[in-house]
Amino acid sequence: MKLLRIRIACVALASSLLLLPGAASAQQNGLAMRPPMGWNSWNHFHRKIDDATIRAQAEAMVSSGMRDAGYTYINIDDTWQGTRDAQGIIHPNSRFPDMKALADFVHSKGLKLGIYSSPGTLTCAKFEGSYGHELQDAQTYAAWGIDYLKYDLCGLRDQIKAAPTPEAGNKIMVDAYIKMRDALRSTGRPIVYSLCQYGNDAVWRWGTTVGGNLWRTTGDINDHYSRMAEIGFSQAGLSRFAGPGHWNDPDMLEVGNGGMTADEYRTHMALWAILTAPLLAGNDLTTMTPETIAILTNRDVIAVDQDAAGKQGDRVSAEGPIEIWAKPLEDGSKAVGVFNRAPSPLTTQVDFSKLGFGHAVKAKDLWQAKDLGTIREPYTVTVPGHGVFFLRVSK
Ligand code: GLA
Repeated sequence: MKLLRIRIACVALASSLLLLPGAASAQQNGLAMRPPMGWNSWNHFHRKIDDATIRAQAEAMVSSGMRDAGYTYINIDDTWQGTRDAQGIIHPNSRFPDMKALADFVHSKGLKLGIYSSPGTLTCAKFEGSYGHELQDAQTYAAWGIDYLKYDLCGLRDQIKAAPTPEAGNKIMVDAYIKMRDALRSTGRPIVYSLCQYGNDAVWRWGTTVGGNLWRTTGDINDHYSRMAEIGFSQAGLSRFAGPGHWNDPDMLEVGNGGMTADEYRTHMALWAILTAPLLAGNDLTTMTPETIAILTNRDVIAVDQDAAGKQGDRVSAEGPIEIWAKPLEDGSKAVGVFNRAPSPLTTQVDFSKLGFGHAVKAKDLWQAKDLGTIREPYTVTVPGHGVFFLRVSK
C-alpha cells in the first residue's frame, strides 16, 4: 500500500513537471539546445527556389563568414514538392532533381538541410502536404538526410474550422503535430521539429508536449519596420515558456532584404537576440552588402542570442515609445536594449538599479563594438528613430 502511494506520488510529480512552462519534458528529442541559426528560403525567394538557388545560399553562408559565426541550417521552405508515386512516396518537383544529392552537398559544406511540409493535404502555397502520409514522409526526409522540418498548419485549417467545437478543433491540431513528432522520432534520425501554426491556442503552453523544438508565436513577418516591430515587441511575457530545446519563434529574419533602414535592421537583430529567438536569415546571402553581413555576424549580438543559460529576455519597462528589454546571461551580466519605437531620435535615461544592478555598471555598446567602461545612472542616451542602444552590462 505504501509502495503504491509512493508510486502514485512519483507519477503525479512527473506529470506536473511536464506541465511546467519552460521545463524540459520527456517529449523532447535533445536537439536545439540553443536557438537554431541558419537561413530559410521563404522571406526573399518565396516560390522562386530550385536546387541551384539552395546550393548558392549554402556556398554564400560559408564564404560570407556566416557559418563560422554559428549559422548552420539551410532550410528549404514551401514549393519544393512534386507528386506522390503509386506507393504514396513524395517526390520533389523538377526544380529539385535529387534531394539526397542536395543534402550531401549541404552537408559537405559543414551545414545542415531543412525542409517544409504541412499536416494538411496541401501546404499554404497549395503544394502536396503530409496528411495521411506522415510516417512515409518522415522516412523519406530521413533517407534524404534532412535535419530540420518546419511543419506548417495551413492545409489543416479547414478541418479545424469544421470541428464541432473550438476544443475539438484544437485537438485535431495537437494530434496532427503529435503524429509527425512520432513519425520523425521513429526514423531514428535527429530532426529538429519546428511548429508553424502562428501561435494559435497559446502554443507556448503546449509546444513542448508535442515535441516542438520551436514554435511560431505569431503570423508572418514582412520586410517593413511596422510589422517587424509589431511582432517583436508583442513577445513580452513569453520568456518563461522558452528554454534549451524549446524556443519561442517570432518568425524568420528580414535583415538585408531592403525594406528597412540599417537602424531598423539592428533593432530587429537585437530584439531577436534578447528574445533568444531562432536566427534564420531570410535574405539572399549571395548579394549581401558589408553592412548586412556586419549585422548578421556581429559576434557579441549572436553571443546574446546563443547564451548558454538559454533564458529568454523580456520587457522591463515602457515609457511611451521607449522600451527597455533585458536578457539575463550565464555569467551574471545582462543584455539590455533601449529601443526607440518612434520615427525620430529620442533622448532618454537608463537607471541601472531598475535592471537589478547598482548605480554604476560596466558596459559594452554591442553595435558600436565599444567598451564604455564604468557608466553611472542616470545614464543619458539619444537613440535613433526606430533604433536601439544595445548594451552588455555587468557589475
Ligand atoms: C506560411 C508560413 C510562412 C511560409 C509560407 C509558405 O505563411 O507562415 O513562413 O512558410 O506559409 O507558404
